[in-house]
Amino acid sequence: MNKGMQKYAEYLDQIEAELIRCTSESTIDSKQTVVDAMRYSLLSGGKRVRPVLTLAVANALGSATDQNLLRLASAIEMIHAYSLIHDDLPAMDNDDLRRGKPTNHIIYGEGMAVLAGDGLLNLAYEELFNLCELQPTLNKACLNIARKAGINGMIGGQSMDMTKFESDDPEISLQYLIKLQKLKTGGLINAATLSGYYYAEAMQNTDNFNSQLEELFITYADRLGLAFQIRDDLLDVMSNEEKLGKSIGKDMRDQKLTFVTLLGVEESKKYENKLYDEIVLILSKLEKLNVDIDFLSCFTSILMHRDY
Ligand code: IPE
Ligand code: IPE
Ligand code: MG
Ligand code: MG
Ligand code: MG
Repeated sequence: MNKGMQKYAEYLDQIEAELIRCTSESTIDSKQTVVDAMRYSLLSGGKRVRPVLTLAVANALGSATDQNLLRLASAIEMIHAYSLIHDDLPAMDNDDLRRGKPTNHIIYGEGMAVLAGDGLLNLAYEELFNLCELQPTLNKACLNIARKAGINGMIGGQSMDMTKFESDDPEISLQYLIKLQKLKTGGLINAATLSGYYYAEAMQNTDNFNSQLEELFITYADRLGLAFQIRDDLLDVMSNEEKLGKSIGKDMRDQKLTFVTLLGVEESKKYENKLYDEIVLILSKLEKLNVDIDFLSCFTSILMHRDY
């Protein structure tokens, strides 16, 4: 295993342990079915892209991983897990397979799946409020999470995704699609990346954290969020259920506006490569500002070339 993969595996272990702690009986004093449903989706694997980004960005900026950072990162993964449970519901994408297992509502029923999503969302904010009490300077990170998970981010994008958009002008459709993707997926990617940045800023309190550095991370997250969703759209037609752990061909079936349904596979790949080039450039600018980009470069490449 190369160094990057080894580090990724290490992050996954740390995140898993923290997610188990957040949902363990000593933390949640409840034996209700809803807690089983929450654990079912939260602890079912996944790439853990968002919490890994939070840890990796903070580490890249010189902050070591501690309990508070893990808490911050894991809260974002709980929000992500809730968004997937709701995204799979019959009222949204009506999916029955997620991470190689039946979706939450298939096992627990729709009502319980709604509650499991709500439960994870509330638990995430409980963790974040606790964190702010311990370390008030983390308020900036938490506020950004709330914003980017909400109507100015993920929920806003999901709402655009659910709205039937029709235009004969491909340029107008593309602009709508870019906005949609940047919100629905880019929202949490921004929250995760910037949480790592704001965490390091809050802990180190030096002049190194200026608007130029922040702006570079915002742009990095913006391009990565878009590229990540384009790959998701590509995998919907190029991968198979076994590898992906989700049903495929759904976007076309549901007549979703995606990069692949709008531009086709080849143009989507070109767009993805263009974004990847931009990301590499941003990372080189970060390196010049003394950011340790080793793992971030490797992780970005893993995400861009993934087939799952
Ligand atoms: C799936 O997210 C939904 C998108 C925003 C593309 P991930 O691809 O991060 O899903 P998991 O967490 O690895 O299962
Ligand atoms: C979902 O996008 C993005 C979310 C905010 C949950 P998709 O609907 O394309 O994600 P998958 O393909 O179901 O994972
Ligand atoms: Mg969806
Ligand atoms: Mg979906
Ligand atoms: Mg998809």
